[in-house]
Amino acid sequence: MDRDQLIDLTRRAVKLARDKTTDLAPAEQRVHAREYTSIERHERDVAMLTASPQLVGYVSELPAPGTYCTKTVMGRSVLLTRTSTGAVKAFNNICLHRQSQVVTGCGSAKRFTCPYHAWTYDNTGRLIGVPGREGFPDVDVKSDGLTELPATEFAGFLWVALDPSATLDISTHLGPLAEELDSWGIGRWSPLGEKVLDAPINWKLAVDTFSENYHFATVHRQTFAKIARSNCTVFDSFGAHHRLIFPLNSIMELEDVPEDQWDPFQNMVVIYALFPNIVLSVTIANGELFRIYPGAVPGRSITVHQNSTPLDLSDESVAAGAQAVFDYAHATVRDEDYRLVEGLQANLESGARDYLLFGRNEPGLQHRHASWANALQGAEQPRRN
Ligand code: FES
Ligand SMILES: [Fe+2]
Repeated sequence: MDRDQLIDLTRRAVKLARDKTTDLAPAEQRVHAREYTSIERHERDVAMLTASPQLVGYVSELPAPGTYCTKTVMGRSVLLTRTSTGAVKAFNNICLHRQSQVVTGCGSAKRFTCPYHAWTYDNTGRLIGVPGREGFPDVDVKSDGLTELPATEFAGFLWVALDPSATLDISTHLGPLAEELDSWGIGRWSPLGEKVLDAPINWKLAVDTFSENYHFATVHRQTFAKIARSNCTVFDSFGAHHRLIFPLNSIMELEDVPEDQWDPFQNMVVIYALFPNIVLSVTIANGELFRIYPGAVPGRSITVHQNSTPLDLSDESVAAGAQAVFDYAHATVRDEDYRLVEGLQANLESGARDYLLFGRNEPGLQHRHASWANALQGAEQPRRN
């Protein structure tokens, strides 16, 4: 993000903080509880996510030709490789023999040998070896291979489509946000691994926890609220995506400093909501990524939490410090946000009350739900047998 834009956002944040207010949506909004509990809605959500481009990681997770990583996306195991030409490829991580996962984790390897019966694939997905060849006369070594999925790197992130026949156009998907996301460089920072939350909450409830800072003073009283303001957000939407600026308490000190001396990024957290299921959180010291997926039933979801850092991790104490920051952020989401909304999911499922209320001071919440409703409107209803 260029300095002029950052200064402009900081000016808006300082004004909101000074006036003890926040960007406001035009009206309150009521949302029906069944959006979080019904099987029909769940199936439509799953179809929506399956049809959307999926941001699955940082480009720095494939740092050189011959590297690979594996991801679980909507319950599917996906293998990503960087081939000798530098291109990113993705495949269903499913062996052609008996559907074992061919590889787990990440690392460097130009060929992958299935751990079950040792069928071997190269990093372009081609089957290159079948032990006990006479057992499989119909298998065509060299022309058979792992099912390839559309994949690309864009704006510093790795993207895949789960439908092998889909076209992946991330430039159109991100629209005007593409350049801004790329400019942070967080996708090129050093990755710190993945932490997974398998939680008894609807996936949208998980997303909702990242969509407002109205709850900071209560839920994060002992943690984030010590450094960040509550109920004070600069909100901007970009088509189906949006950006929130959460000012830190220190932002008020800028009132006494001339603008040309501002170091704006020291005083805010920038949150991006990327349609339909991605949250990015950017600070001076780290780039957090939350990939949030529906679980097997409406009341369950999987959140994969990643973090990257601009710090030099070759220094052991720096690396330990970066991990500690990641652990702290993860524990806060797990023990404060997700723990609290578990009770909320239980109430929604009890059927005791039909509606939730989204305030004018929660424009991010309203925007997320409007984007989903918009996408679902045109979508075909899944057929139920
Ligand atoms: S399942 Fe992969 S070799 Fe048998
Ligand atoms: Fe929170």
